[in-house]
Amino acid sequence: MQAKDRIILALDVDTEKEALALVETLYDRVGAFKVGMQLFNSVGPGIVQKINQLGGRVFVDLKFHDIPNTAAAAGRVMTRLDAFMYNVHIAGGREMMTAVVKNTAEEASRLGVNPPAVLGVTVLTSISSTQLREEMKVDKRVEELVVEWAVMAQECGLSGVVASPQETALIREACGPDFLIVTPGIRPGWAAAGDQKRITTPREALDQGADYMVIGRPIRQAADPREAAARIIEELEE
Ligand code: C5P
Repeated sequence: MQAKDRIILALDVDTEKEALALVETLYDRVGAFKVGMQLFNSVGPGIVQKINQLGGRVFVDLKFHDIPNTAAAAGRVMTRLDAFMYNVHIAGGREMMTAVVKNTAEEASRLGVNPPAVLGVTVLTSISSTQLREEMKVDKRVEELVVEWAVMAQECGLSGVVASPQETALIREACGPDFLIVTPGIRPGWAAAGDQKRITTPREALDQGADYMVIGRPIRQAADPREAAARIIEELEE
């Protein structure tokens, strides 16, 4: 994989105009674009096809968490939209994940297209071990649960997980080399941390075993986004 392909640009904007302008500017300097709830719910699913038409690939970050039949149907929709990746909450359980993977593969073969990679969301990085115990009634440390859930997601046929840089090495060790790890919270040395607390540089994330890194503000808000992406690519290639 080329260094640029590892970068997933977070399109955290409200309008199609802003999103497509970023795609036009950066499609040849990043591997994919992440469309989350903000953009998807503002402009609708057609944004996925529009980004594809401009030469981008799309990670649809809607974190499905529903009964197996409903989540599986949403997975079929992601396949018809030609998403490159989409995600589901591992907390939805084995039956849900298995149904999602099966339906995604079936829809892709029916259409004669590549199935999107299905990623699992482990424990949201905003959740602490204290919240896990006191609110979710789970008596385990976050890191322990994250690794156990990553293994479960792999057993259900998911392609990989979204995880914090702090968890990457443990997941890599437990799940082996072929399981995708996508990590946010990335900050090059020259970028502002903003509200991100536990951050890693692109190089560190790669060294810890991440396949893809979700990067938003360090590129989007740079004075020259193409130059910012180029600097990150260079750092990854070193
Ligand atoms: O601008 P920034 O690089 O912080 O953007 C990171 C992106 O990754 C945002 O879209 C954010 O919602 C997402 N994300 C995150 N931390 C997580 C999960 C997702 O920052 N734990």
